[in-house]
Amino acid sequence: MTSASAPGKIILFGEHAVVYGRPALAAPVMQVHTNVDISNSARPGVWIESPNIGLQAELNSLPSDHPIASVINRLFSHWRVSPLPNLEIKITSTIPVAAGLGSGAAVTVALLRALSLHLNRPMTDKEINALAFEIEKLHHGTPSGIDNTVITYAKPVYFVKGRPIETFIVGAPFTVVIADTGISARTKESVGDVRKLWESDKTKWEEVFDEIGDISKRARRAIESGRIRELGELMNRNHILLRELTVSSIELDTLVSAAREAGALGAKLSGGGRGGNMVALTEPDLAEAVSGSLREAGAKNVIVTRVRSWISSSLN
Ligand code: PMV
Repeated sequence: MTSASAPGKIILFGEHAVVYGRPALAAPVMQVHTNVDISNSARPGVWIESPNIGLQAELNSLPSDHPIASVINRLFSHWRVSPLPNLEIKITSTIPVAAGLGSGAAVTVALLRALSLHLNRPMTDKEINALAFEIEKLHHGTPSGIDNTVITYAKPVYFVKGRPIETFIVGAPFTVVIADTGISARTKESVGDVRKLWESDKTKWEEVFDEIGDISKRARRAIESGRIRELGELMNRNHILLRELTVSSIELDTLVSAAREAGALGAKLSGGGRGGNMVALTEPDLAEAVSGSLREAGAKNVIVTRVRSWISSSLN
């Protein structure tokens, strides 16, 4: 049997503006992950089991645009594999779906990695990332590519669409609390709505994107030199700009306020918005109090994670 995994991710700064070429910062979240196990099978066909989404099916019985089928078909056609081998593929994940933690990209990356290992056709991270981006485009319209990049490399990433991947040093590791509104929201929709806004007044929204991009640049410098307090203020400002972009919601604003009132240094929504997760920066000794307040304010799930430069991982 061959196994591979991929972590979740959190966008710290710059979502939405990143679609318009501005930089964004994201980090892996190793507390949640997707695992893929592949074994050869006596049963003809490629059988896929994914208990999280109640899936048990043979590849050919799935629609060609099915997120899992499209990864497998894309890879096999990339390699020109025919006829297909007989395989059992099991996908399990602890990453909440449609919550801005990169569940879809993690399935794609873990699946590509497991298939490449199992079929003995090693792929570099660069190749996996490029193919994962192709798959993201099939399902998300005009993605920036940040999800597949941070998940493939499993390192904090300073991301600018279309540019080679840049990781950055975390001067002093810091703690973030991630809380889920429990509301599933489609990134494609919020990205589409932001596009409509932008089309209605490009000058105005370009200025907002510029300011968000500037926040990402300043946040990178603050992280590199370990100026954590400054990061909190930047998060708060980034949240205000995301609200202007109409991608926050009452539930996200409630969690953001609850985190700040409990002593977080700053907080903002994370990812596509409208639902999904928010992220708060906190001193480590306040993480528990902030988590408790977030739960009281309605969070359905809370994850505490440390952002650091180097992450030991068994990936690859
Ligand atoms: O909802 P998520 O976590 O997949 O993040 C989407 C981030 C956006 O900037 C809104 C879109 C993108 O493709 O970068």
